[in-house]
Amino acid sequence: EKGNHHHFMAKEIYEQPEVVGHTLTHYVDMANGVARLPFETPFDWKDLSRLSVSACGTAYYAGLTAKYWFEKLARLPVEIDVASEFRYREAPLPANGLALFVSQSGETADTLACLRYARQEGQHIMSVVNVPTSTIARESDVVAPTLAGPEIGVASTKAFTCQLTALAGLAIAAARARGTLTAEQEAAYVQELIALPGLMAQALTLESEIEKLARKLSRARDVLYLGRGTAFPLALEGALKLKEISYIHAEGYPAGELKHGPIALIDEDMPVIVIAPHDALFEKTASNMQEVAARGGRIILITDAKGAAEAGVVPEATIIMPEMDPLFAPIVYAVPIQMIAYQTAVFMGKDVDQPRNLAKSVTVE
Ligand code: F6R
Repeated sequence: EKGNHHHFMAKEIYEQPEVVGHTLTHYVDMANGVARLPFETPFDWKDLSRLSVSACGTAYYAGLTAKYWFEKLARLPVEIDVASEFRYREAPLPANGLALFVSQSGETADTLACLRYARQEGQHIMSVVNVPTSTIARESDVVAPTLAGPEIGVASTKAFTCQLTALAGLAIAAARARGTLTAEQEAAYVQELIALPGLMAQALTLESEIEKLARKLSRARDVLYLGRGTAFPLALEGALKLKEISYIHAEGYPAGELKHGPIALIDEDMPVIVIAPHDALFEKTASNMQEVAARGGRIILITDAKGAAEAGVVPEATIIMPEMDPLFAPIVYAVPIQMIAYQTAVFMGKDVDQPRNLAKSVTVE
């Protein structure tokens, strides 16, 4: 069942170009190069006052990435919180609000509780789920499917990139309906989505470099992940993935927060993984990286050729990604992030498919 892979997690990492491509066909009209949703919405995107997103763990990080997309592309205000907080906050929800839930299993107790709260508060209910027969899917007004197929590894990989893909498609469709994108912009964004599976396949070829890196990381006690913009949720996801399966303590931070605290941790022992595609924020992140270097920090840079050339530091290791438009880059940058965690845990002899203390589906609080 694992094919020629040692673990389900590896199989699922390698399946991503295929399942992301499959998911895309549900959000994009390939022939005409426009966004097309697999359902009718019982609301008009134009009338929405706010999008309120809740989810847990990796699904929450997918939602956090989508906040950047919905705000930028569709000019829709987005609120997001982890479901275990949102459900008890008694948050006021606006008239004509859309509540969006992201869940692989569709059975996560806290996420379901948020859905029921949002229903009670008169929100439209949409969910991005991988299991169409799940409770969250059944209780939603509209289901935006991810077509990741069954995910066996406890640490989420392909479900995450499929969630991002569906959310990107939704954001473009919302933008079109709200009149915040020109037809040319829409076409350009759709082409970028169509390019994703090929770029992910290229990213998978970085495995042997990542293996070398993993050997070094396996000796670390703590690892810091930094990113800005959509690379920030990915920093959180990278840290979560590493701690889940290797049990190395890791934290993700927005790069700009470095000097507000975590810079105190920098020394020659702690690897700092900087996720920085060459985008509009690159220079800002590069200056944070220089601050780390000035304090003797060990930098591992994940960027593209341009970023590597302009980093202004000599990292301990650089993972060079293919060039791509930065907006949807997190979908591709997720691949090395997952491989880093996987290879590190495998090198340390950990049970990557069944990490200690974790369950695949969290159906109790
Ligand atoms: C992390 C992971 C968990 C899940 C979280 C939500 O690798 O798998 O953080 O993402 O428990 O689960 P779902 O998506 O089923 O609601």
